[in-house]
Amino acid sequence: MSDDYTAGDVREGIPFIGAGPGDPGLLTVTGRELVEAADLVVHAGSLVNSELLDAFCADAEQVNSVGKDLEELVPLMTEAYEDDRTVVRLHSGDPAIYGAALEQMDALEANGVPTYFVPGVTSAFAASATLGTQLTLNEVANHVAFTRPQGKTLSEKEDHISDFVGFGDVTTCIYLGTHAVSDTMDRLLDDGHDPETPVAVVYHASWPDEDVIRGTIDTIGEKVEEAGYRASAMVVIGEAATGAGYERSYLYGDWANSDDDQSDETDTDE
Ligand SMILES: C[S@@+](CC[C@H](N)C(=O)[O-])C[C@H]1O[C@@H](n2cnc3c(N)ncnc32)[C@H](O)[C@@H]1O
Repeated sequence: MSDDYTAGDVREGIPFIGAGPGDPGLLTVTGRELVEAADLVVHAGSLVNSELLDAFCADAEQVNSVGKDLEELVPLMTEAYEDDRTVVRLHSGDPAIYGAALEQMDALEANGVPTYFVPGVTSAFAASATLGTQLTLNEVANHVAFTRPQGKTLSEKEDHISDFVGFGDVTTCIYLGTHAVSDTMDRLLDDGHDPETPVAVVYHASWPDEDVIRGTIDTIGEKVEEAGYRASAMVVIGEAATGAGYERSYLYGDWANSDDDQSDETDTDE
C-alpha cells in the first residue's frame, strides 16, 4: 500500500464501526483510521478486544455501552458530537449482525446527528477461518444462515435452526447461543435430524484464547458443557464445518478453459 493511501472519504457524523471478531488486525483500515482519530469511543464491552482499544485509542475517552440504555447512550453521543468532539461507536464483529445499531442511529439522526456504517468482519467469518473451511462449499453447502436460538428475545416459533438444518445444504451459524448448545441440539434430535451431523463450536475466534470444540449434533452439547463455555462462541452446524466432501468447482475446471460466455455469477468467486 502506498504511503499516501487514504481509506474512504472523511464523512460528517458518527460512524458505527465493526470492530471485527477480536484480533485488532481484523479491524478494517477505515475503521482503524476513524478509531485513532476519535476523542470518544463508545464500545460494546467485553466483545471488543481491549487490546484493540489499547492499540488504537488509548488516549481517547472510552465508554462501555453494556448496561446503558438508549436514553443514556444517545444524549452522551449527541452532546459530545455537538461539543465538536470526534465520536465513534464501536460494535463487535459487524454492526449489521445482532448489533442493535439502527435504533441508536435513528435516535441520533432524530437529534440532528448524522450517522453511517463502517462494516467489519463478523464472527462467523472468523470462525470459518479458524476451522479452515468455507461456509459455502461446492456440493456441500450452497447457503449460509446467520441465526440465534430461542430464548428471551426469540420465541419458540421464531427459532428456525431446525428448518435451516433440515435443508441439508445450509451451513447454520448460531450467534448468541453458547449457553444453549445442549438445548438446541436436543431440539434438533427431537425433530429427527441426523445425530451424526457435524457441529463445531469456536470460542473467541481470533482471540489469543481461541478454542475449537468439534463434535456432532449428538455429542457437542456435553463437550461444550465440559469446557464450561457459556458465551462468546460461534456454533457452526453442517458438513461444511469439517471442510470435507466437496467437489472440485467448475471455476478451476472446464469453465476456466472454455470460451463460454462467463456470465454465470454463481461460480465467479469459488
Ligand atoms: C451480540 S452478538 C454480536 C455479533 C457481532 N455483531 C458479529 O458480527 O460478530 C454476540 C455473539 O456473537 C458471537 N461472537 C462474537 N465474537 C465472537 C468471537 N470472537 N468468536 C466466536 N463468536 C463470537 C457469539 O455468538 C456472541 O454470543
